[in-house]
Amino acid sequence: MAIGVFDSGVGGLTVHRELVSRFAERDFIYLGDQANAPYGGRGGEEIVELTREGCETLFRAGASVVVLACNTASAIALRRLQQTWIPGLREELSRPVNVLGIIVPTIEAATGLPWSYEAERDGRLEGEKKEAIDITGIFCTAATAMSRVYEIEIDKRRTDLAVFTEPCPGLAGLIELGAPEEELRVVVRDHVDSLRRRIGRHPDKAILGCTHYEIVANLFAETLPEGVQVISQPTAVADSLERYFERHPEYDLGNTGRRTFLTTGQPGPQSDLIAQFWGAPLTFDAA
Ligand code: DGL
Repeated sequence: MAIGVFDSGVGGLTVHRELVSRFAERDFIYLGDQANAPYGGRGGEEIVELTREGCETLFRAGASVVVLACNTASAIALRRLQQTWIPGLREELSRPVNVLGIIVPTIEAATGLPWSYEAERDGRLEGEKKEAIDITGIFCTAATAMSRVYEIEIDKRRTDLAVFTEPCPGLAGLIELGAPEEELRVVVRDHVDSLRRRIGRHPDKAILGCTHYEIVANLFAETLPEGVQVISQPTAVADSLERYFERHPEYDLGNTGRRTFLTTGQPGPQSDLIAQFWGAPLTFDAA
């Protein structure tokens, strides 16, 4: 059995790389749904169905836990799959399986507050809502922005944080295609600038809320002013998964260090941009 990592394409490699370094002895199967990438401009039902199909491929290939290393799929599809699909699949496969998202771990890292805080919060903060001083900027796909998941989940934990979301349509697609750095730099600059104009200043913290953007984290870092803290989504997800596996020893995660990379698209070597990020050429096999 193995840990499955799913994304519309190459973005999830950013999370995968961190998970592999954290759980080196475990077996991993990565799937990029490159035949259907990018997801960010698609409708909700389509994203749910594509995500379900991707997860099914991973479970049938031997995954026991699938990490949706995709904010768009986590925002739109996670809850539906956990509630309406996973219970039946567990029965059908007669083994423990689950699908996990990456947004809540990211928000916990950004706010410093775990999920349990929400339950205790209401009584304590009633009538003492603070003036918003800290601004968190979220760069994400159009579908993630429309779901408002970051605003909703951050507000459950911290009413003193203001959240501004900057949808970056097209950016994940360019990264997926391995566009030249100069072209990517211009797009990143435009979005950082657009967010600054909307807020009236730069945010205090930034979340790269699309796993593809982590591949060009250097371009965000060079464009945002030095003091802006950029939350590392891969680290946050690995931290949270470590705690999850401690609480759930029932999942068989394999222990031979096997690494498999699959695509629904054209099998073969990934772009130079990915080779540069990965530190070596990377080849995907047919799913
Ligand atoms: N990497 C994904 C995300 O985190 C999906 C990007 C896309 O397919 O549009 O949102």
